[in-house]
Amino acid sequence: MSVKYQVIGVSSTPPGTGKAEREVGRSVRSPILRARLRQETVARLQHLIEALEARDLGLSGAEDAERIYDRFVASYGRRPLRDNAGGTMHNSCFWVFATVALLRPPLIVESGTYLGQSSWMMAEASPDSRIVTFDIVRERSRAKDPRVTYRLGDWSDDPEFRELPEGTLMYFDDHISHRRRIEETVARGGTLALLDDDMPGHALYATGAPPVPTRAMMQDPDLPPGTRCEWERNGKVYAYDYTKSDAETGRRHIAWSTPMPDLTPVNLYVPQSPMTLIGLREKMEGG
Ligand SMILES: C[S@@+](CC[C@H](N)C(=O)[O-])C[C@H]1O[C@@H](n2cnc3c(N)ncnc32)[C@H](O)[C@@H]1O
Repeated sequence: MSVKYQVIGVSSTPPGTGKAEREVGRSVRSPILRARLRQETVARLQHLIEALEARDLGLSGAEDAERIYDRFVASYGRRPLRDNAGGTMHNSCFWVFATVALLRPPLIVESGTYLGQSSWMMAEASPDSRIVTFDIVRERSRAKDPRVTYRLGDWSDDPEFRELPEGTLMYFDDHISHRRRIEETVARGGTLALLDDDMPGHALYATGAPPVPTRAMMQDPDLPPGTRCEWERNGKVYAYDYTKSDAETGRRHIAWSTPMPDLTPVNLYVPQSPMTLIGLREKMEGG
């Protein structure tokens, strides 16, 4: 039987490169199907909102899921980098945008600017937040935005952030050990962090430089300290020895963690690394 669809037009959008080919220039157009996509995505966002409402994050006056979705679609449509292969793509952009839109933090410190897509999305999500982003590489093709402050170097060396103001959101997308980033944040009085590349120990092969030990590893009750985590990727074999002190750091400093839902089954865009919002504390009660 021959297929029944027809070509009814030609798009001027260039296709994406590499992995981005699977999402750039691909969209649903019929209003009824767009509405269905909206409904499915909003349901996942609603799920996140309900999970976060259980935390003491002051979400009572926050925007509703529909409005956040609609604002995201409008912003993402005019994003500075149409093709951000190698950086934050559609589904991670969505969760970064939604988290920031919900929390409206007075200050956001991002580590891992790359070409500037996620910092731009955060500026769109919460125009009143101050956003400072760090990278150790000066990218020449970075999309710079006046709402964002760009700094070269590691955030932990910046004297301005020796003490983090209350409500600061840290966003780590730099492939540096989650344990190290958690300890640095806690040492500066920070209590909130969004962690990208939060792979479990059994899937560390999913990214080139997993930030071991990840938060997922540090909170995994079935990962015994002393385990050698070994993985293979692109012809190399890697190992990380998970320690008792890694597990203790997780227990001591991570008060709660909320994973971002997976949108891949909804829109079949490029699967993104797991991302988790965490609440931090200096030490456990009674500890
Ligand atoms: C996956 S990219 C970040 C993607 C980016 N957030 C986006 O919107 O596309 C990781 C970035 O982390 C940067 N990086 C590596 N080590 C770093 C460090 N110590 N501090 C800050 N950035 C670092 C790399 O240079 C790279 O640009």
